[in-house]
Amino acid sequence: MNLNIALLPGDGIGPEVLEQGVRCLEAVEEAFGHHFVFKEAPVGAIAIDKTGTPLPNSTLQLCKNADAVLFGAIGDPKYDNDPNSEVRPVHGLLQLRKELGLFANIRPVKVFPSLIDRSPLKKERITGTDFTIYRELTGGIYFGEKKLSEDGTVASDLCEYSEKEISRIAHMAFKAARNRKNKLTLVDKANVLESSRLWRKTVTKIGESYPDVGLDFLFVDNAAMQIIINPSQFDVILTENMFGDIISDEGSVIGGSIGLLASASIGEENALFEPIHGSYPQTKGQNIANPIASILSVAMLLEHFQLFEEAMAVREAVDKSLQKGIMTPDLDPKSKYGTNHVGDFIANGIVDDDHRLNMNDENIGLGKSTII
Ligand code: IPM
Ligand code: MN
Repeated sequence: MNLNIALLPGDGIGPEVLEQGVRCLEAVEEAFGHHFVFKEAPVGAIAIDKTGTPLPNSTLQLCKNADAVLFGAIGDPKYDNDPNSEVRPVHGLLQLRKELGLFANIRPVKVFPSLIDRSPLKKERITGTDFTIYRELTGGIYFGEKKLSEDGTVASDLCEYSEKEISRIAHMAFKAARNRKNKLTLVDKANVLESSRLWRKTVTKIGESYPDVGLDFLFVDNAAMQIIINPSQFDVILTENMFGDIISDEGSVIGGSIGLLASASIGEENALFEPIHGSYPQTKGQNIANPIASILSVAMLLEHFQLFEEAMAVREAVDKSLQKGIMTPDLDPKSKYGTNHVGDFIANGIVDDDHRLNMNDENIGLGKSTII
């Protein structure tokens, strides 16, 4: 298969983790005979520094013309921590989501058996966790009208949803549940918010066309608790933009590190794949960022193009690295492996199964393994 892939490394650890994702895509090219063309463009703080805007038009056009976008991370304290800053790196990502029409953000939360003891939560609570969050991504409070009174003392953000915005992602979530355990939980705040009541009404109606999928509802505050108390009760969670942002970070705690969680953002015509984590600027350039979220985003990209065997090879190589303890310090504080060692091991594993199984950890630690 030929694919044009736009690479948006962004800020902080974004470039480091994206580089490992790209190495895995190159490994897939080599192992399966595909041809991927990569074109890189600036976004976020780095784009502000270069061009004055977090999403230059040339970057947007590159993404629109690409088959898929692979995104690193975005954000820099020099803009984010200054409330008076006129331009913000995150606007680059928000505008990109909106312009590409990426209304469905899919965030799988799964426990790796080899990491079960590294979770801050008790093993018996988290065993069997395997759910996917369908987060609406181009509406709600993120994109509603924003106001600041002239004297700067009163501010508001409007949370607005239309039936159309709710139903297009609801259909996707119901279909996803059909391919999983046939359960859909709508997370909302319908006891308080009008917009949540519209979500309930719309999703209930759509549910009539999916009688084989069990539909239930949870208020978001209760959901936040249930995700920690009993995460294995969930199959597909459907929710609006901001609730999805919050509960997906919460969900990442279950598996032991936010550095493991990947996501796909899907629209009618475009698709973008990115870790759920931020730019973690404190550790930029230290070679300690976990590349697995970026690498699993690559697996989701491959699945999006029906390259299931390829995606499986990526996932298996990730599993092997975790089983062998080849992981970054977020998962193992005593680890001697850096971002590139983990990426190296996984990329090698994709190319050559036998090589992966027999690989000498010592050489990986020393950065000597060089299949690709
Ligand atoms: C995420 C991030 C973004 C969001 C930020 C960087 C705008 O936290 O993808 O979860 O809030 O959507
Ligand atoms: Mn977030």
